[in-house]
Amino acid sequence: MGEGKNLVGVDIGTSSIKVCQLKESRKGYGLVRLGYSDLAPQTIVEGQVMDSGAVIEALQRIFRDSKIRQKEVSLGVSGQSVIIRKITVPRMTAQELEEQIHWEAEQHIPFDIKDVQVDYQVLRERPEASQMDLLLVAAKKDQINDYAQIVREAKLKPVIVDIDAFSIQNLFELSRGLPADQTVALINVGASLASLNIVANGVSAFTREIANGGNVITEEIQKQLSVPVEQAEAYKTGGVGDGGMIPQQVVQVIDAVADSIAAEIQRSLDFFMATSGEAEIARIFVTGGTANLTSLGQAIERRSRVPVEVWAPTERITVDAKEVDRNLLQNKAAQLAVALGLSMRKSKEQRS
Ligand SMILES: Nc1ncnc2c1ncn2[C@@H]1O[C@H](COP(=O)(O)OP(=O)(O)OP(=O)(O)O)[C@@H](O)[C@H]1O
Ligand SMILES: [Mg+2]
Repeated sequence: MGEGKNLVGVDIGTSSIKVCQLKESRKGYGLVRLGYSDLAPQTIVEGQVMDSGAVIEALQRIFRDSKIRQKEVSLGVSGQSVIIRKITVPRMTAQELEEQIHWEAEQHIPFDIKDVQVDYQVLRERPEASQMDLLLVAAKKDQINDYAQIVREAKLKPVIVDIDAFSIQNLFELSRGLPADQTVALINVGASLASLNIVANGVSAFTREIANGGNVITEEIQKQLSVPVEQAEAYKTGGVGDGGMIPQQVVQVIDAVADSIAAEIQRSLDFFMATSGEAEIARIFVTGGTANLTSLGQAIERRSRVPVEVWAPTERITVDAKEVDRNLLQNKAAQLAVALGLSMRKSKEQRS
């Protein structure tokens, strides 16, 4: 994995910022710090930071309140401006590939190549066909720069920027291992996005992001019951209702929107199955704040006919310092996959 200290994982999501610091030992990973702050609606819209002052203020407050002294962080990016593709190129040496990658990338990316940061990994060499399979990752420099700049303005030092889907995959690998002979799907459903990562034989084979998540459910409750957003959110999360009762209509809205998210996920699964030649998906793991809604997992299972498990990203993480708020950890567990995955990264890593 590499040398040096674990970086502090920082996940700036649409609804909230999640920050984790891990300490690695022979026993495994211990959580030494945990920070969390909700963000007001409209602070971040579709991956665009609209109110950077609010994000900077929240980051500084999180680091201060949760007593994180380390400034070096790894930062997650997601959103429609990240593209991940499995591509096939003629077989070539590592150096040739380094020179050719921009040209190859251009064929597969709908953005101007000048505007994107390109990275890649060789998945498989196929000498018999004189070809090789690559995982190509491109993220718009704008978005990376915006997020990195915000982090710097919060007096932190971004050392690594990683894609949310890969951070989750790294954590999942630690937690469950990646089966060498199976295909599994990892799904993260947050506030504004649902991201899907299909991992076949231990490597990512397909990723997609769907612009649908928990916010749509809250908005729909708000609309159909004519209640303020706070009330809608409370109904959804089972927090408070009028006299503690949750109207039946709320359950119906949740079920309906969960089913629409499941339908979009199913379209991506169908696309993957039709184009990849993979025989079957063995299991689907769902995480993210919206995975707290049991009807979401049920809807995905009903549509996909694949066993669905709600995966708690904290399952293999022990608490290793009194500073960690255990209540917070328990309440927000489902939302921590990205931040925990990011906090497994180290300051001096070898390129894999
Ligand atoms: N107990 C719960 N029941 C239902 N929904 C919940 C619960 N807890 C959190 N959520 C929802 O989960 C979402 C937040 O999850 P998460 O932190 O994973 O998203 P995010 O990272 O902020 O957003 P995104 O990844 O889309 O940018 C919100 O929509 C919130 O309402
Ligand atoms: Mg998120």
